[in-house]
Amino acid sequence: MLPPVVNTIAGVRQSVADARRAGKSIGLVPTMGALHAGHASLIRAARAENDFVVVTIFVNPTQFAPNEDLDRYPRSLEADRQLCGAIGTDVIFAPTPPEMYPPGFCTWVDVTGLPDGLCGASRPGHFRGVATVVLKLFNIIQADAAYFGQKDAQQARIIGQMAADLNVPTTVRVLPIVREPDGLAMSSRNRYLDPIQRRNATALFQALEQLKRLVAGGERDVSKLESAMTEVITATPGARLDFAQVVDADTLRPIDRLQRPALAALAVWFGGTRLIDNTILEPPAPPGK
Ligand code: PAJ
Repeated sequence: MLPPVVNTIAGVRQSVADARRAGKSIGLVPTMGALHAGHASLIRAARAENDFVVVTIFVNPTQFAPNEDLDRYPRSLEADRQLCGAIGTDVIFAPTPPEMYPPGFCTWVDVTGLPDGLCGASRPGHFRGVATVVLKLFNIIQADAAYFGQKDAQQARIIGQMAADLNVPTTVRVLPIVREPDGLAMSSRNRYLDPIQRRNATALFQALEQLKRLVAGGERDVSKLESAMTEVITATPGARLDFAQVVDADTLRPIDRLQRPALAALAVWFGGTRLIDNTILEPPAPPGK
């Protein structure tokens, strides 16, 4: 069944209130639309764990810098609606920018420290826009649980921290990266790639696989691990490295050696398209443990 699309905050609050009155638990999946199998995995989890599922579709202008792809970001509401309906979504909340940011809007959520490196370094202000819109969605929907992807590892870490710091009563759930058969992480931005770029875009996954092989072979020196990732990207035609880094999985700060769980993350340009990918590295316990 095709889910209804509600454009106003008052409207979605009404349908959530009706569900609450009927004793239903609420699951929230925030997205920017152009839905794919990665989003579908979040909606499926929300469906499995809650009685009433709200998918939000909002291309949030405050998380795009003026030189970024806000205007050309793919929009496909009808196809998105079909996908939501096929999985089982109770309502789609698709507000307009002025509904979310009326004139006079001037309050921002600034998580400190965690946005400094990785994507935050190349996209100043991005995570302020993300944290602000996600807190607004948390407050509008007041869900029992909200679902995010590990694909955007820094975003997931920042949202989890914000929810803990600001006592948000919604449980933040983070689910694994969904990939194409050749390893490319699913992304709405993959549809910008031409066929040659698309073929070469598996380099991000290959760089992470190469890294995992080195770690399995005992390599613990982070600069060597980062160089290995960088080499895979620089050897790829049409690829331009933004960053390839291994950081502490909790603080997202740089590390020298792999001792605790770490996040290996990279961002790579193919023409005007910036792709990201990551993996968590768990160093094996030292001998005797
Ligand atoms: P968007 O890029 O549409 O992603 C929505 C959610 O889907 C995010 O939690 C993201 O991590 C997850 N996702 C994307 N690709 C995935 C994949 N291949 N596997 C698993 N999960 C995947 O992220 C945003 O929108 C926005 O920043 C948002 C949180 C909605 C705030 O505007």
